[in-house]
Amino acid sequence: MKAGQETVTSTRRMVADAAGIAEAAAVLAAGGLAAFPTETVYGLGADATNAAAVAKLYAAKGRPSFNPLIAHVADVSAAKRAGHLNATAMKLAAKFWPGPLTLVVPTTDLVCDLARAGLDTVGLRVPAHPAAQKMLAAFGKPVAAPSANRSGHVSPTAAEHVLADLAGKIDFVLDGGATPLGLESTIVDCSSGVPRLLRAGGVPREEIEKTLGQKIEIAGNGDADAPASPGRLASHYATRARLRLNVREVKEGEALLAFGESLPQGAEISTLTLNLSRSGNLTEAAANLFSYMRAMDEAGVAAIAVAPIPKKGLGEAINDRLTRAAAPRA
Ligand code: TXA
Ligand code: MG
Repeated sequence: MKAGQETVTSTRRMVADAAGIAEAAAVLAAGGLAAFPTETVYGLGADATNAAAVAKLYAAKGRPSFNPLIAHVADVSAAKRAGHLNATAMKLAAKFWPGPLTLVVPTTDLVCDLARAGLDTVGLRVPAHPAAQKMLAAFGKPVAAPSANRSGHVSPTAAEHVLADLAGKIDFVLDGGATPLGLESTIVDCSSGVPRLLRAGGVPREEIEKTLGQKIEIAGNGDADAPASPGRLASHYATRARLRLNVREVKEGEALLAFGESLPQGAEISTLTLNLSRSGNLTEAAANLFSYMRAMDEAGVAAIAVAPIPKKGLGEAINDRLTRAAAPRA
């Protein structure tokens, strides 16, 4: 079926070679939906300047339309066409782009209103993944892309995860294998004088503070109708199984999401044990987090006990995602 039609019945998948990348750019240009790999997670891309394409994207995700999308661009000069970067934003861009950092800045009129959910700011990111880089360069316009999962599900770190959630709902998946980081970008709001952390992610807060030479404010959980960053909404990264965090003792019937060499008491009775990182490496744990949560759901476990994970470095973002996944649901 051709890209840009109302309903998609089959989702095409191509490996991220030159032909695949050209096809992804063509799907975007036709107003279609193309999922693509980034260094963090897979994004579900649409032409950010085309409101009809962005509307299809919200529909495919089942995402509440008040959630603004990140606009992905090839480089700093493309970012400057989409937003006004102040000195703080430029400093962070110079240090961390391409990479897992999203900057929220005042918008120009390039990215459509719908992609920004009506805000006068725009979230911009230059991804480092070579396939994403080449696709953005070939397409030449900003690409609006949330994580390529159904709203509220775990973020996808492989093309198979994208298809499990969205097959039949999107036109195309560019398959670049597993994403190296496995955790979404850090979001920093640079739209006012004081930079604020909206979402912990792939770039640790400490590194941002070191680059700016100042502490940055952490934004509180915004209310649901006007969230500072809806990625901060409670119960956003849900598993089917219920989660219990910082567990020192595993209970009857629980699976165990472990971290490090020493396991919680009762680990031997767990219904299934997956270790995020046996050696206690937070980078490895971040890369495994979403696929392990998914694997536990697929194994049909009802409850997951999660071992304590240090809150420093990438641990801040890992704990943030777990806390959200453990939040009470409607
Ligand atoms: O690593 C990532 O950031 C991935 C890859 C695909 O780039 N994308 C991603 O997108 O995680 P998504 O839509 O799942 O999360 C984007 C977050 C949302 O919480 C959204 O509210 C916030 O970015 N955001 C985007 N634009 C914003 C803006 N103008 N102001 C405040 N928050 C914004
Ligand atoms: Mg997401």
